[in-house]
Amino acid sequence: MSRRVVIVGSGGREHALALALTAQACEVTVTPGSAGIAAGGIAVVDTPSTQLDADLFIIGPEAPLVAGEADALRAQGKLVLGPGADGAQLEGSKAFMKDLLAEASIPTAGYWTVEDPEAAAAVLAGLTPPYVIKTDGLAAGKGVLVTDDLDEAIHDAADKLAGRSFGGAGSRIVIEEGLTGPECSLIALCDGHRAVAFSTAQDFKRALDGDHGPNTGGMGAYAPMPGITSEDVAELMATCVQPTLDALRARGIDYRGLLYAGLMLTPVGPKVIEFNVRFGDPETQVLLPLVESDLFDLFVSAAAGELSAAPTPSNLACVTVVLAAKGYPDNPIKGALITGLGIDGQLSDPIEGVTVIHAGTIRSEAQGPFIVNGGRVLCVTGRATTLREARDLAYQGVAQISFEGMQVRSDIAAKAAEGEQS
Ligand code: AMP
Ligand code: GLY
Repeated sequence: MSRRVVIVGSGGREHALALALTAQACEVTVTPGSAGIAAGGIAVVDTPSTQLDADLFIIGPEAPLVAGEADALRAQGKLVLGPGADGAQLEGSKAFMKDLLAEASIPTAGYWTVEDPEAAAAVLAGLTPPYVIKTDGLAAGKGVLVTDDLDEAIHDAADKLAGRSFGGAGSRIVIEEGLTGPECSLIALCDGHRAVAFSTAQDFKRALDGDHGPNTGGMGAYAPMPGITSEDVAELMATCVQPTLDALRARGIDYRGLLYAGLMLTPVGPKVIEFNVRFGDPETQVLLPLVESDLFDLFVSAAAGELSAAPTPSNLACVTVVLAAKGYPDNPIKGALITGLGIDGQLSDPIEGVTVIHAGTIRSEAQGPFIVNGGRVLCVTGRATTLREARDLAYQGVAQISFEGMQVRSDIAAKAAEGEQS
């Protein structure tokens, strides 16, 4: 079988996927891709996936999955990694997800689905902080408020219900019991029946150091999480992931693709805070470089419903640091000129073990400089034998890059690297 892969998407996750597959002798085309992805020599086209041909299609982001792009491709007989619109509801509707979790007895936060502001205020008044309010539809990780302030929570609920934020995504909201504890992203590859896990990763959701500021799509990540053993992962898979896949199957949903469990390791055990139906961004940037298996074979076997092996982890560690635009997440400002990158989109002064991933860049002309074109602009990934070294490498790379208003957290993976056994 030839190894032609089409990747749908244009962000950092898709760039990371394209680099990992290209490094394993795949012939990759990304649609619509980006200038940064193309700069490294990867084919980028602006053609709908249904008009392309490949041995494997991978759909990166949630929106095309929710819109049924995997179904359209499968209807043409294509091999696709990514659930159909039925399975993608797990991310497209928090209410669908919560109902499914309850049905499968998967540990999760208590929740209330509400459609009017008075009901929201009454529910909130009966809870203890932190108060958690989510829009029901897709809001790219940004539709969530977590606050200790009851008034702020009541106002946010009313704003979301009135459609004043996140467009139509807020006509129904979910209020959740506030959980506490470290977060863990566990991403599983599913073939409809079976699920196998990648390493655990930790994502940094808040905009500012010390986990302050608004929620974002993710400001950095690292993998693997120290202290989480392979037995722990097996247990998380058995309690949170496999029952979800089984519950989907029981509803007649043949789920082939990635299932991302956002977990909170609470004092009373792990609980699922969200499911995503795709690879995480920026988790993908730190997970794929740690896989020793042939990714193409692994993805093809899942897409074909014939998964027989789990990804083989290397004993390396990865850290990625996101460089975000001024104003991100509320109102990212585009157009700033980026310095520190060569024409191939990598560091002008390359560092062994450092990769620059493009999340939101364009160029004004073919070989011209890169320009900020999204909220999350670049991710700088370091890979080394320890988290501490990987972190040092990532930040050395970050130090070479600048643009006006660049936002970077300085504490990505800091605690984990400090606590690492040497
Ligand atoms: P979500 O979009 O559901 O992943 O939520 C975004 C972030 O909000 C999560 O990564 C958590 O940091 C936080 N969060 C979500 N749900 C809860 C909860 N029930 N309790 C505490 N924090 C939460
Ligand atoms: N990093 C969080 C997400 O991909 O949703």
